[in-house]
Amino acid sequence: MKRIKNLTKEQKIKLVMGADFWTNYDLDGQIYKFVVSDGPIGLRQPLDRMTTEQHDCIKSVAYPSFQMLSQTWDAELAYEMGRSLGNDCIEQKVDILLGPGVNIKRLPTNGRNFEYLSEDPYVAGTFAREYIKGVQSKHVGTSLKHFCCNNSEKSRQWMSMEVDERTMREIYLRAFEMACEAHPWTVMCSYNLVNGVRMSENAKLYGVLRNEFGFDGLIVSDWDAVKDSEASLNAGLSLEMPYNAAHQREMLAKADKLDPARLDENAQRVLELADRCEEESKLRKIDMNLEDRRAVALKIEEEGIVLLKNSGVLPLHGGKVFVTGAAAWRYYFGGGSSNVYPEREFEPLEDALRHEGADAEYAESVWEVNGHQANLGNLKGAVLKAAASDYTVLCVGEPCSCEYESADRQQIKLSKEEETAIHALARASEKLIVVVYAGAAIDMSDWVDEADAVVWAGYGGEFVNRAVAEVLTGKVNPSGKLTETFPLSLEDVPSENAYRDEAVMVYSEGLNVGYRYFDSFDVPVLFPFGFGLSYSEFRYGNLTVGKDGENIKVRFEIENVSDIDGKEAAQLYVREITKEVYRPYQELKAFKKVFVKAREKAAVEFVLDRSAFAYYSVAKDRWTVKPGVFEIRVGASVSDIRLTKKIVLN
Ligand code: BGC
Repeated sequence: MKRIKNLTKEQKIKLVMGADFWTNYDLDGQIYKFVVSDGPIGLRQPLDRMTTEQHDCIKSVAYPSFQMLSQTWDAELAYEMGRSLGNDCIEQKVDILLGPGVNIKRLPTNGRNFEYLSEDPYVAGTFAREYIKGVQSKHVGTSLKHFCCNNSEKSRQWMSMEVDERTMREIYLRAFEMACEAHPWTVMCSYNLVNGVRMSENAKLYGVLRNEFGFDGLIVSDWDAVKDSEASLNAGLSLEMPYNAAHQREMLAKADKLDPARLDENAQRVLELADRCEEESKLRKIDMNLEDRRAVALKIEEEGIVLLKNSGVLPLHGGKVFVTGAAAWRYYFGGGSSNVYPEREFEPLEDALRHEGADAEYAESVWEVNGHQANLGNLKGAVLKAAASDYTVLCVGEPCSCEYESADRQQIKLSKEEETAIHALARASEKLIVVVYAGAAIDMSDWVDEADAVVWAGYGGEFVNRAVAEVLTGKVNPSGKLTETFPLSLEDVPSENAYRDEAVMVYSEGLNVGYRYFDSFDVPVLFPFGFGLSYSEFRYGNLTVGKDGENIKVRFEIENVSDIDGKEAAQLYVREITKEVYRPYQELKAFKKVFVKAREKAAVEFVLDRSAFAYYSVAKDRWTVKPGVFEIRVGASVSDIRLTKKIVLN
């Protein structure tokens, strides 16, 4: 390894600053030059590494969004996705993948919600941890991002997130804490400030990361998140990205005034990371070919699609299927740094349906113009076709010009034109199925009653329509469930109504984020957290709860009382009954997706350790369990609890 003491100040300064958009300074060929790439749902790597331009990017497998990944409720798929992406990285000579993102979906309007996993830290932490393990099993590094409280995009470069300590620990830091168990090689700081301190200079929170969460890697900036290179260096940010000529000039000019110990420490970390990348690169081997990786993308979408409503019309039972709507014939994905350009040709929904044996045809009813604006197409023609068909499948949603990085959504409804088309087609159709292609909660209250079925396709990656067709035809029995609440309207969400101006955002709802609010305060929602339908029907029974040393063992059975094999995502929530400090009504502490054959039963077991019962005591400055009575609540969603049992903890 190159010794830090043999380097000049100038070399050290260059080390802590990127060489271009995607690589480190390699001491003029003396150390390994590592390559980073977005991330996190496929590779986004410009062909020319000196630019961030979206065009001229490499082609990559386009996996479903992180929303779809978590909706599978199968953390093994996060590992598989990571492993598959690790293979993509090896193929493209990428050393570090810029993901996963674990920011909590505090606001339904956050423009980047599609890139994040959940409103619940346990879900986000579990999936991120497995994803990191998967990528790193291929000797490719990850960058856990964006540390932290980057929960909205508006004014992200200068907004200060004002968060109390307990909320910070239980909601906003928890997923990072869990993900750190997988030892990501790097953590990326966020753009925003937290309680007045810029995250690229936040020594206090970096301390939590290193000293309490056991993070032993390198902290890298988000791209252009550093405003004062010296302050960032002193706080412990080791790599400023991308290369910024003005910043480097300033740093070189004040080289003699920089704290030598801080400079050495951070430059040393870059040396170590470069060495690590070099060593690990020798161990890399591709063990999944393109078809294997595409199969992972398809599998995640099949398992992540959520059947939100079904008045008995699905699966399709023969007959003529009329497909319409802009989203049926164009790839919908979120905008910004996670854009992926797939090689595979886009498969329109009618083709995918025909592939599954359905008698499907397409005609337009609504198309989109520059994203935000939709236009009614030949709605009259579509109405006539709908009337002459057995089923109408209307594909609506939000393209990347509605949900993207650096801005938030203005509202969470579909365009007026799409809503108009839904009403018109609902009147004309025998059976109307609405398929929604979007990345975050949509307010469907205007039209949901008129649809016979609603399917959440999300941003499903390159196999989206194959998976949608499989679900519609019944080849795949839907098993995805929501990992974020769909509110009835934006006005119902306390965080959306909390104080914010251009500079400050107050997290005044505290712990009551997502279901923690709706559930604790009995506020009705459109679709609750954890909700999703199946073509099977499941019954829960035989709950036993017992102690096993410090741990609590929970066991129950799920019976498939239908004639169709299916999968059920069972959820375990903990409620403190004898609470002395405020606790949300119940909180998710375990989940598992289980396959249950028709008319058979499957046993599910969870082992809960003390952390499942803890809250963060600000007085003691640590997680604490108060002796008392708790309730174990097992169910199909946060508002569909099937089994409960009380337990006393000493
Ligand atoms: C995003 C990061 C991304 C980086 C590099 C930033 O704008 O916030 O998530 O990894 O760009 O493209």
